[in-house]
Formats: sequence, C-alpha cells, structure tokens
Amino acid sequence: MKSEQLLVLQPDVAGLEKAARILGLGGLVSFPTETVYGLGSDARNDRAVAGIYAAKERPSFNPLIVHVPDTAAAEAYCVFNDAARRLAQAFWPGALTLVLPVRADAGISKLVTAGLDTLAVRVPDHPVASGVLSAFGGPVAAPSANPSGKVSPTRAAHVVAGLGDRIDAVVDGGACAVGVESTIVSCVGAPALLRAGGIPVEALEACLGQTLVAEENPDTPIAPGQLASHYAPQGKVRLNAPYAEPGEVLLGFGPVEADLNLSVAGDLTEAAACLFACLHELDAMGAAAIAVSPIPDHGLGRAINDRLRRAAAPR
Ligand code: TXA
Ligand code: MG
Repeated sequence: MKSEQLLVLQPDVAGLEKAARILGLGGLVSFPTETVYGLGSDARNDRAVAGIYAAKERPSFNPLIVHVPDTAAAEAYCVFNDAARRLAQAFWPGALTLVLPVRADAGISKLVTAGLDTLAVRVPDHPVASGVLSAFGGPVAAPSANPSGKVSPTRAAHVVAGLGDRIDAVVDGGACAVGVESTIVSCVGAPALLRAGGIPVEALEACLGQTLVAEENPDTPIAPGQLASHYAPQGKVRLNAPYAEPGEVLLGFGPVEADLNLSVAGDLTEAAACLFACLHELDAMGAAAIAVSPIPDHGLGRAINDRLRRAAAPR
C-alpha cells in the first residue's frame, strides 16, 4: 500500500479499527507497545512485510518479531516446549520474545523468518497494541519503528520524525513505559539469551530455575541487535564517563551534574524508560560528542548497557 499522507490515529475504537483495516490492505501501521513503537504489517503478506524492510532500509536477512494477542495465538504458529510454556505463562503479556520452531502450516511470510525454521513471537502488554492485534485478528510482524541503525522510537513523534513519509499510519498511544526492546530468549535448544531487554535475565532464570545460555543463535544471520553500531545517535558516544570532557554533553545517571539525566535517583527502570527519548533529544540538541555516566550492569542495566555499547561502537 502506498500512502498519500501519514495518518495519525487516536487510540480509540475508531482509530484501532482504521489501523486494522490498513493492515488488512497490506499497509504499514506503527503502534505503541510497552517496550518501543513497532512498525507493523500483516505477517502473512509478503508484499506488506517487504514494505517494512523498504521503509526501514533494513538489511533483508534480519528476521522480524511476530506480535499476537495471546499465548493461544502464538501456539498456532510455533511449537512450544516446557521451558517456553513456563516463560510464556510467567511473562506474557510482556517484554519477552520467544524464538521457537515455526509450524510448517503457520502461513507466515518467509520474509519474516528470513528463511529460518524458527519464529520470534511475543504478546505485548499494551492496551493499544492489544487493541490493534484483536481488531486485526492476524499475526503482525513488527520491528521497532525507526530507520535501520537509528534510535528506537518511544513516542509517536519519534516515529513521525523517522518514518513519517514512508508509512501509512501511526496510532498515538503516548510514551512507552518500558523503553527498551523485549528480551529475546531462544527455546529451540537449551534456553538461550539472544538479546538483553525489558525483562531482566535474572527474572527469567529464576522462573526457569536454570542459567540461560548466553550464545548468539548459530542459525541466525547477523541480527540487528548484534550489529555493532545499532541504536546510534548522530554524536560520538563515550561510555563510563564520570564527567564530560570539554565539548562533550553529559548523559548522566544518578546524582551527577549532567545536561540530560537518565535517572537522577539512579533507578534503572526509570533510566530504561527514558533511554531512547534521551538519545533522540541529544540528536535534537545537535550533540556532536556525548559522554555517558557509568550504569550498573545488573537487571535492566544490562539492556541499557547493551544498547549504549552499540551506540558507542565505531561506525
Ligand atoms: O520490543 C520489541 O521486541 C520491539 C517491539 C516493537 O515489539 N520489536 C523489536 O523488533 O525490537 P526488531 O525487529 O527490532 O528485533 C528483532 C530481533 C532481531 O534481533 C532479530 O534478529 C531477532 O529478533 N529475531 C527475529 N527472529 C529470529 C529468529 N528466528 N531467530 C533468532 N533471532 C530472531
Ligand atoms: Mg530495532
């Protein structure tokens, strides 16, 4: 579907139904989840999914996450084992993506799985995402709604700024509460962490009663989350900086004097929620050199540090 003009939809019944109609016609609709805004298309429609790759200018070997309203819907597309069932029971709806064997008759576009025989699925915990998924009634492929390699959007305005002229609609559901993408766990073999994210690894391990294997999925070609310079703001980023050098803007954490602060209180949940908004703001400020305070590497701090390391990687 080719958009004449971007529709900004309200998160009411009429807006959700309009979003579902556009998805049904093969269009691209951005909607909020509790993690970040997704760029959705019908996961069964090759042309529509191709539209996601085109709009994001995303390397086409990167598979996408399919969003469904509940676990029963996920079971229609994937084969669950005990670990997967246990994690879904404990954390869905929520910021967890499971990579599972895809069913032969799932009907999911090969562009979604990038030809793999596994599928990434998740049940988002956001009334607008749930509303769009229920109104549409099918699987929705949705990566984060940003141009490839740029910072993920946590507000509708970020989506409009990054992709406004390339998509059909965005449902404005305000700011995303979690602010970093979902944690990705593969349950294809021994449960393995593929990406740190909104659900802390510690919580997953406590649920499973075992340590997650921390390996990159050997089946997976380079994942966007594994590309070194992903999530990058325009400016050069320096990590673990107690203070800013001359010419640098300080992105603080905790009680430091900073230009922007992820959380003055040193709260990792608050820091995750505003991380991408701060990176967008640094771009808006035209910051050319960015120093970032040290962030503790536990709980959500692991996801935050993962994103910041990618932002700081040479490009
Ligand atoms: O929070 C989120 O997960 C957001 C919101 C919109 O739900 N979505 C998101 O999607 O971050 P995306 O496309 O930006 O990230 C997808 C990640 C990639 O790292 C991709 O490689 C991995 O999921 N992935 C997808 N399918 C996979 C598979 N079959 N095996 C291994 N990794 C997979
Ligand atoms: Mg992304």
